Amino acid sequence: PTIYTVTPTYTRLVQKAELTRLSQTLLHVPSLHWVVVEDSPVKTSLVSELLKRSGLRYTHLCTQTPKDFKLQEGDPNWLKPRGVEQRNLALQWLRENRGPSDEGVVYFADDDNTYSLRLFEEMRFTKRVSVWPVGLVGGVRFERPLVERGQVTGFYTAWKPNRPFPMDMAGFAVSLPLLLANPAARFHLSAQRGNLESSLLQALVSIEELEPRASNCTKVLVWHTRTEKPKMKQEDALLLKGLGSDPSVEV
Ligand code: UGA
Ligand code: MN
Repeated sequence: PTIYTVTPTYTRLVQKAELTRLSQTLLHVPSLHWVVVEDSPVKTSLVSELLKRSGLRYTHLCTQTPKDFKLQEGDPNWLKPRGVEQRNLALQWLRENRGPSDEGVVYFADDDNTYSLRLFEEMRFTKRVSVWPVGLVGGVRFERPLVERGQVTGFYTAWKPNRPFPMDMAGFAVSLPLLLANPAARFHLSAQRGNLESSLLQALVSIEELEPRASNCTKVLVWHTRTEKPKMKQEDALLLKGLGSDPSVEV
């Protein structure tokens, strides 16, 4: 089965660095199709050129987050859900361009996380929804599904444990046939904080149906890393003097 890796992404100083790192991880994964969805009204040349040069099989899409739902400068990052309409557009693309005979699994891979190559082989043969631990998330060393006799019975998580599926986006993958069989399943922009993952999963599975991977959810193979926002104090000062760095050099 092909692994459709769906990555929402948006313009910011670290974007090219993030996408370079992720694309070079994905190059090591067999049978992978990267669906990159820009949070932008147009496909930017930065992302277009990066994809062309990447050596990956890919689909490039874009859709802008509606203004009322977009984080504003200075907003705390948790105020609004991120990447929602981008992931939904990827789901729409899959539904329009893939059919019942296509084998595949869909993984929502944010551009800033850190992925072990072993993770992709864990998810490849997903029947419905497979799950595993995520490191460095939710204010704990790792979150994970709890497994008894091969079945998920609950979750180890400290933050809002009563969410229907208290899991990070990076902690599950969904089979393509299951997504095609449930055409209304999608992420909800209106989901309460922390409930974005649940808004999709509730339409697809029950907890008992989850397929535990990574040695019954005892191995961490993905990390919810976050990249520091670079300080541009000197650049800003130089710009004021007309001495800013050459804008024709892409960073
Ligand atoms: C956590 C989860 O790991 C995300 O999967 C989830 O979307 C997010 O919370 C949420 O609650 O919405 P976090 O690290 O806080 O993630 O989010 P980001 O990494 O900042 O954003 C998730 C993805 O959306 C990234 O791939 C990012 O590039 C993209 N994004 C972010 C946009 O497309 N537009 C934005 O305005 C911001
Ligand atoms: Mn992130």
